[in-house]
Amino acid sequence: MAWRRAKTGLCRFILWLVIVSAGGVVIFNMVFVLPITSELSLLPHKIEEPREKLTRSATLDDRKRQYIAGKPSGARYLELEIYASKENVTLTLNGKTRVDQSEMLIRGLNVVVLNEVTGDVMSSRWYDTYESKADSDFLVNHLKGLRRGRIICFAIKDDAVMQLSKEAKDYIATIGSSFINRLQFRSTWAFVVQRINDKLFVHAESFQNPSSGDEWARAVKLRTWVKLLPETNEKCNWADTVANRRRQEFCDVYEGYGDVCKCEEPVTIELNPPPFTDGSRLQLPIAVMASNRPYYLLRMLRGLQKVEGLDPSTMTVFIDGFWDEPAAVTRLMGLKLQQHAGVSQRNARVAQHYKRSIHDSFEQHPNANYLVILEEDLDVSIDILSYFKQLLPVYEKDASVYCISAWNDQGYEHLCNDPAMMYRVETMPGLGWVLSRKLFKNELEEKWPKPHEIVDWDMWTRMPSNRKERECIIPDISRTYHFGGKGINVGGLMQALYFEKHAINQEAHVKMDPDKMYKENYEKEIHHLLSEAKVLNHTKTPCANKDDFIPDTHGKLYVFYISMEFPGDFKTWQSMASCLRMWDLDARGFHKSMWRFWLKKNHVLVIGCPASVYCSYKPAEIKPLYIPRIPPVPR
Ligand SMILES: *[C@@H]1O[C@H](CO)[C@@H](O)[C@H](O)[C@H]1NC(C)=O
Ligand SMILES: *[C@@H]1O[C@H](CO)[C@@H](O)[C@H](O)[C@H]1NC(C)=O
Repeated sequence: MAWRRAKTGLCRFILWLVIVSAGGVVIFNMVFVLPITSELSLLPHKIEEPREKLTRSATLDDRKRQYIAGKPSGARYLELEIYASKENVTLTLNGKTRVDQSEMLIRGLNVVVLNEVTGDVMSSRWYDTYESKADSDFLVNHLKGLRRGRIICFAIKDDAVMQLSKEAKDYIATIGSSFINRLQFRSTWAFVVQRINDKLFVHAESFQNPSSGDEWARAVKLRTWVKLLPETNEKCNWADTVANRRRQEFCDVYEGYGDVCKCEEPVTIELNPPPFTDGSRLQLPIAVMASNRPYYLLRMLRGLQKVEGLDPSTMTVFIDGFWDEPAAVTRLMGLKLQQHAGVSQRNARVAQHYKRSIHDSFEQHPNANYLVILEEDLDVSIDILSYFKQLLPVYEKDASVYCISAWNDQGYEHLCNDPAMMYRVETMPGLGWVLSRKLFKNELEEKWPKPHEIVDWDMWTRMPSNRKERECIIPDISRTYHFGGKGINVGGLMQALYFEKHAINQEAHVKMDPDKMYKENYEKEIHHLLSEAKVLNHTKTPCANKDDFIPDTHGKLYVFYISMEFPGDFKTWQSMASCLRMWDLDARGFHKSMWRFWLKKNHVLVIGCPASVYCSYKPAEIKPLYIPRIPPVPR
C-alpha cells in the first residue's frame, strides 16, 4: 500500500489512529472498497493510495469523507462493481449490470470512463494489448486525454499483458495502480481511479495471477462506492459558435476525444474542405459506412477536412445499428446521418449494411449515376475525389470497367512510386471506391447475398459470376489508408503485418492520364512496356537473392517470368509475394496473369507463364521461376 512509503513508524501510527478514529464506518467500507481481492494479505495492504502529487493530510480528509460516504448523508453515491475473468468483463452501476455491446470485446483491457457528476458511462473502449503492440500507445493517449474528475475503471478479459508496453504500465502506475507491474500473462485485474484537481483517488484495485504458466488466473470482483460530485469543476470557455455548441453537447456526454473536447485550442470540427482548383466540387453522393467504432469514425471524418472538391452536403454517414456514440460523432461533425437496424450476423451483417446503404444512397440522389463509398476506418488522401473525378469518364464509357478504387492491395511503401500511375486489375479492392448506379441497379442489387448467406460483400463482388471479366482501376499509390485494427476481418496483428506499411498519396493536384486506362489503350501500353523492359537475371530469385535480384538502378523498367500453369495457379506468385513482402494471403492486383509494381524505384512487371498472353515476350531460353510454397517471412 502507499502507506508503505511512509518514512517513519510514527506516520504509520498516526495513520492508524486516524483510520481507527473514523470508527466502524471505515471498517465497513474497507471491506468493500478493498475487494474480494486475490492477494489475501492484511487489510491495510488493500488500501492503495495515490503515489504522487498528494499531501497526506488531504488524502486522509478525502478518504475519510469517502468512507463516511458509504453511509447516506445527503450526498449521492455510485455503487460500482467490476468483474473480470477469462470469459467475461462486467461493470455494475448501482446494481445495474451493464452489458458492453461494442463488437470488439474479444479480449484485452476494457477502460470505462464514468461521469463524476452523473455516474453515467461516457466511454468504453477495448485495447487488445494481448495481440497488438500499437494498442498500448492508443491506451496511453486515451488515458492522457481524459478530463480531470472522471472515474476511470479498468478490467482485463482473458489477457491484456502479453503486449502491454512498459510505457503503458508506467503510465498506469503514475495514475495510482500499485499492481500493474505485478501482472503476468493471463492475470486478471480490476482498478478504479479518479483524479480530482491534482489529487488521485484510488477507489479500488484487485488482481489475480495465474497459478501456472498456461492457465488463466481466477476471476476478480471488486466493489466500491464513489461519491458523486455536485458539479463538474472542469468547464471550458469555448467561444459561442454553432460548431462549439455541437462540441459542448458532445463533450458533455462523451469522453476519450481529448483533442476535440479539450478547453484550450481544441481541434476544429468544421468541415470546410477546399474546392477543386477550378472552384467546383464533386456533385456525387458519398456514403460513409460505419458501425460502432466512433473514434475511428471521428478520425475518418476529420480526415475529410482537407479533401479537395468535397461537398459535405452530399455526404451521409450510414450506421449499422442504433448506436448513440457514432451518431453523436456524426452530429458533432454536422453531417447527415442514417441509422438502420443491423440484419444478420458478422460478415453477413456487414453485407446487408452495404446493400441497404447503397440502395438508400441511390434513392436519395435520383440524379446521381455514381456513388462514392468510404469506410469508417480509412484515412483519405487530399486528392481522392480529384482522382475519382478524372477517371469517371472512363467508367462511363468503357463497359469493361467494374469499379474505380482508391486502394492498391500491393501499394506498400517499398512497392509504389508514381502518384499518376494507375493499373487495371481483375479484383475488386474496395477500401474507398466508386460504384455505378447501372451496375448496382441492373445487376448486383438483385443478386446481393441474402441475410443468411455468410459471405464477405467484397469477396462476393469479386466472384467471376458478378465481375464478368470486368476490371477495376486502381492507383499505384493508394488514395486511402486503412488504419482500422478492430474490424471483423482485421485484427491488430493483421493490421501490423498487412496494412501498416501501406503508402497513401500526399501530393495535391496530381494530373492523371485517364485515356491510358481504356481497355484497348491499356493493352497498347502493356505491350509497349514489355517491348522495352529489360529481362532480369533468372538464375536469381526474389527469395534467394533478396538484395540484388533487382539491380541497384533508378527509373528502369524490368520484367521477369514466373511459373503459372493456368490463370488460377498462384503457387509461385504467393511464395514470391511473401519474399517481396507483398499481400500474400491470396492473389490480388493482377491483369491477365501479370502484376506491376515498383521495386527500388524501378518499374517491374511479373508475367505468369504459360498462363498469360504476355508470355509471347518471354525469350525462349528463359525458364519461368518456380518457387514452391515457402513459409511466410517475418515482415
Ligand atoms: C459473465 O459473468 C457473470 C457474472 O458476473 C456470469 O453470470 C455470466 O454467466 C458470465 N458469462 C459468461 C459467458 O461466462
Ligand atoms: C546472373 O546471376 C548469376 C548468379 O548470381 C551470375 O553468376 C551470372 O553472371 C548472372 N548473369 C548475368 C548475365 O549477369
